Amino acid sequence: MTGRFSDPKHLLITGASSGIGAALAREYAAPGRRLALTGRNGERLAAVAAACRASGAEVSSTCLDVLDRDALARWIVAEDSHRPLDLVIANAGISAGTGAAGAESAEQARRIQAVNVEGVMNTVFPAIERLRPRGAGQIALMSSLAGFRGFPGAPAYCASKAMVRVWGESLRGHLAPAGIGVSVICPGYVESPMTAVNSFPMPFLMSAHRAARIVRRGLARNRARIAFPFPTYWAAWLLGTLPPGLTDALLRRLPEKS
Ligand SMILES: NC(=O)c1ccc[n+]([C@@H]2O[C@H](COP(=O)([O-])OP(=O)(O)OC[C@H]3O[C@@H](n4cnc5c(N)ncnc54)[C@H](OP(=O)(O)O)[C@@H]3O)[C@@H](O)[C@H]2O)c1
Repeated sequence: MTGRFSDPKHLLITGASSGIGAALAREYAAPGRRLALTGRNGERLAAVAAACRASGAEVSSTCLDVLDRDALARWIVAEDSHRPLDLVIANAGISAGTGAAGAESAEQARRIQAVNVEGVMNTVFPAIERLRPRGAGQIALMSSLAGFRGFPGAPAYCASKAMVRVWGESLRGHLAPAGIGVSVICPGYVESPMTAVNSFPMPFLMSAHRAARIVRRGLARNRARIAFPFPTYWAAWLLGTLPPGLTDALLRRLPEKS
């Protein structure tokens, strides 16, 4: 496929040390492409970087916490100065299951909001500052199908993903005149350490590799919303559309992360 966003040469991905972020890094890794990857776990990040280099990509990897706003901004500026960024994917995120505290305790809920919302803003704002003067480039924000309706099993997670989705959709129109593409990614269940802790059935669970391919296709077309798989997307969309009075009883029966 050809087009302005079809072949990004320099990509930056947060949360690249694991799951969907790692799969995206591997999906894009190819000769002639540079990947700037970050995560917190140095060992896993180095393994992903090595796999991407083996596929022919040039890779720069740095351990960072997305909550370290200044360090993250400095890194984004440094990577963009090295070679102009074409695509920035704000992917790093956590859920209740990622934390030691188990289900959404007050502390874990605050941490989810911090990483999933502030962490994404800490990535996106410095990226906008660099892309705007060039009138080029693309930003992708990792939301979730959980961002279409509040689910009792993951209140803070759903809220964080709803914020990211709506913010990204608004940014798309806001940044279009500046020539910057913005896409919001809304996956259903994807195999990763985040979902590995779920003991309940996950409809249409897919591999991170498959999810990364779908995301790449959507980004190449500059799609506003990359939501998948279709049956789960449709169900999430419908649940978000129907009056809560009609859906509360059903949603109360859904399982929680333990
Ligand atoms: N898996 C799903 O079913 C699913 C569905 C919809 C949306 N999502 C979203 O997709 C994104 C990736 O999730 P995943 O399933 O791939 O989970 P994952 O395997 O747990 O990966 C999460 C990534 O985020 C990084 N991360 C977490 N907190 C961070 C922080 N404070 N600073 C920097 N990096 C941090 C992790 O780095 P370290 O491990 O190195 O700390 C890791 O690379 C998340 O935003 C998630 O909400 C996932």
